[in-house]
Amino acid sequence: MLRTIRGFKDILPAEIHLWQHIEETARKIFESYGFSEIRIPIVERTDLFRRSIGEVTDIVEKEMYTFSDRHGESITLRPEGTASVVRAYIEHKLYGGPISKLYYMGPMFRYERPQKGRYRQFYQIGAEVLGEESPRLDAEILEMLMRFFSHLKLAGTTLQINSLGCRICRPGYKDELKRYLGGKRGVLCEDCLKRVEINPLRVLDCKSRGCTEATSGAPSILEHLCDECRGHFHAVLDCLQTAGVHAVTNKRMVRGLDYYTKTTFEVTAEGIGAQNTIAAGGRYDMLVRDLGGPDTPCFGFAIGMERMGLLLKEATELKKPLVFVAVFGGDDVHAAGMDVIDRLREHGVAVERDYERKGIKPQLKRANRLGARYVLILGTDELAAGTIAVKDMEAGTQEVVSLEGIEATVVKKIRT
Ligand code: HAM
Repeated sequence: MLRTIRGFKDILPAEIHLWQHIEETARKIFESYGFSEIRIPIVERTDLFRRSIGEVTDIVEKEMYTFSDRHGESITLRPEGTASVVRAYIEHKLYGGPISKLYYMGPMFRYERPQKGRYRQFYQIGAEVLGEESPRLDAEILEMLMRFFSHLKLAGTTLQINSLGCRICRPGYKDELKRYLGGKRGVLCEDCLKRVEINPLRVLDCKSRGCTEATSGAPSILEHLCDECRGHFHAVLDCLQTAGVHAVTNKRMVRGLDYYTKTTFEVTAEGIGAQNTIAAGGRYDMLVRDLGGPDTPCFGFAIGMERMGLLLKEATELKKPLVFVAVFGGDDVHAAGMDVIDRLREHGVAVERDYERKGIKPQLKRANRLGARYVLILGTDELAAGTIAVKDMEAGTQEVVSLEGIEATVVKKIRT
């Protein structure tokens, strides 16, 4: 049997209503904060990700789907969306106007070891703000994210926050961390032995036992922030408190991508296993300039859709109620039946029908199998009387109503 590739999966109709509900909630909330959607390509030049995510990161070193195209150019399936948004921002000179608030949704690709909540193709909903440096912005976007979770009635989330400093204060911290890790070489994993020299912060993120033990007493970045970064971090914490958003400082959190400066954060959730980070992001004030654009402070995040799906699995029935129109009789009855179906669909009602002009019994059976909430029954007698029968499949009751205005009658029933 042909199957999907390891780490890839189908999102089947049974799950799709939940996905659409999550996406619609994101659109509604993000747009109320002034965001617009951007659609970015799924494939980009490999260089874009190398230069933005960083050469010495798991994503770039081990996880990218990189190929040569037919002209020998190295291209990569996007492992994340921020790099592409920044590329688009520079390419289309979006910096000409006021601040840009952009969101995106779609698949990302990372060659990771698949497990519950971790896939090789996974979907993100991301949001990026380009052109604002105020800590108030960081806090507002975090508030927006937490509002999104609360609209989805998600409980048990924790917002963890840290600051990674800037190009002024981070080098000093890196040197101190390097010195500290120098004394722990005996227990570090092979990858981290290499990382100590080039990118020691990555060692704090390593999940191997020796490295976790070695870094448990490591110096903290928060004690090495310059005045500007410390001020920014405390202002974000203050604004969050004022907004009633609870945040826990996690001074060991370094994130797996190199472009971050100042604020970084992760949101974790309970009850979905080891892969429990449902959203993450932070500030990246140098990335636009590093990729050839003007100085532009930025802040953003991405939410993991599959992990949201795991959390909300038990969510209430989100599928649109289905109406089945059962028609039996001559051509004139079928023509009238089609007219009813058209009118209902014009009013946004989900309608199913029979295609084979079967008798009433098999039609009712089909309606039942499809899970119809209501069945409208139109036969020769009903048409002659200008009526139609409405069967409530849940209550098991039936009433006869006027054929005229049936669409309004059905819409009212569905809404109540
Ligand atoms: P990230 O932490 O790599 O950040 O990914 C964000 C979220 O995507 C994770 O918290 C997780 O929920 C989900 N995710 C990541 N990898 C997988 C996977 N293999 N399977 C399932 N879900 C996954 C970024 O991607 C940054 N671009 C976020 C950002 C935006 N920072 C600033 N702006």
